[in-house]
Amino acid sequence: MTAISTLAAHGGTPALDIPGPHYQWPAVTPGLEEAVRAQLHRSLSDRDASGVIGEFETAFARFVGAPHAVSFASGTAAIHAMSRVAGLRPGDAIIAPAYTFLATATPFAFDGIEVRFADADAFGNVTAATLAGKLTPAVRAVIVTHMWGNPCPMDEIADFCRAHDLLLLEDCSHAHFASWHGRRVGTFGDMAVFSTNQKAITTGEGGVLVTACDRYRELALLYGHYNKRCQHEIDPAAEYYPYAFTGMGLKHRITTLGAAIGVHQLAHAADIEARRRAVLTRYTTALHGNPVITPAIVPETDSDHGLYVLGLRFHPERATVSRDEFVGLCHAEGATEIDAPGSTRDISPEPLFARRDPFAPWTPTPPPPTDLPGVAAFAGTFLKLPLWGYDGDEPLVAGYLEVLAKVSAAVAR
Ligand SMILES: Cc1ncc(COP(=O)(O)O)c(C=O)c1O
Repeated sequence: MTAISTLAAHGGTPALDIPGPHYQWPAVTPGLEEAVRAQLHRSLSDRDASGVIGEFETAFARFVGAPHAVSFASGTAAIHAMSRVAGLRPGDAIIAPAYTFLATATPFAFDGIEVRFADADAFGNVTAATLAGKLTPAVRAVIVTHMWGNPCPMDEIADFCRAHDLLLLEDCSHAHFASWHGRRVGTFGDMAVFSTNQKAITTGEGGVLVTACDRYRELALLYGHYNKRCQHEIDPAAEYYPYAFTGMGLKHRITTLGAAIGVHQLAHAADIEARRRAVLTRYTTALHGNPVITPAIVPETDSDHGLYVLGLRFHPERATVSRDEFVGLCHAEGATEIDAPGSTRDISPEPLFARRDPFAPWTPTPPPPTDLPGVAAFAGTFLKLPLWGYDGDEPLVAGYLEVLAKVSAAVAR
């Protein structure tokens, strides 16, 4: 038993004394610096895929195991393109997770599409059962997010979508390295998007839409890459080819410097994966038997984790403090990256989701409340911490483990 008085918040000595910031990604190696420098001299703006943008997309498609990848300026822009490519329009509805980052669902609301919010399981993910509860005749598609790196149960979700003739879209932003029953996430749906903002594979800012469908790939180009690229790459026989010059009105290109960072990251994907998986295993092993927290990870028999962050479940009934007090005690020990997420939460009450007319004035009305017991249970007990995965991370990995062990022992009932 560790006395509470030994905790830094109560006058004790902090367990971790490493100046911040504690997590920076990607690791700025000489190789990455050289890749950016070389691109600086090569080109700062590419109008087509003949340079680094094409190299990035080819490498990303190979990484996921998808036939096509189209890059965008952000994951949000890619999800909006996915909505348009899917042909969703006002009057249609899509089922989305209530517990996710806002951009999984906001691009649909931007177009006045109804978003129906599904509840979460013990990993924060939607399931076939939680999706089924939201079905109406207007629903044309489902989007799932593989939360915090844990894949959703994709066999049952794909069966559900097939049975109800719904398009299946995946938001894989947290799950770049994830698979479900041996199959990579991003390959179950009709289309998938990976944000490459500060994620396991990053381009700084950026997003990638992947698909096996040639038509979807060409339409995705129209929603982000007008003019030369569309004229070169879209089949002149396609009925939408006359739009190749103008695109559909917007440009959402990734920057060449971002793409160069992405190419470098993807060339080192095996190393990134091995290092992050080693940290994940180290944490799950060390936390075995912890009195108040357990890893929130889908069993390995079903999945490979996506390696975005390590999620933990806090058990309030086993502790003398709340989850948020636990986080505060860890911060006082010096482990400032231990986090109870704020921006990723139940997004269903947001007034954006009550709008059906994208041109209506700004008079917010909250949507009617949705009953989401699974989301409340998950979001109220979840914590996360970085997986690091670069040279020099050892003192941080060890230090965070020490803080978790110290604080847990002091607050255990
Ligand atoms: C689950 C999820 N979806 C979508 C996005 C949006 O991606 P971006 O920030 O690249 O627009 C994010 C970004 O954090 C995310 O976490």
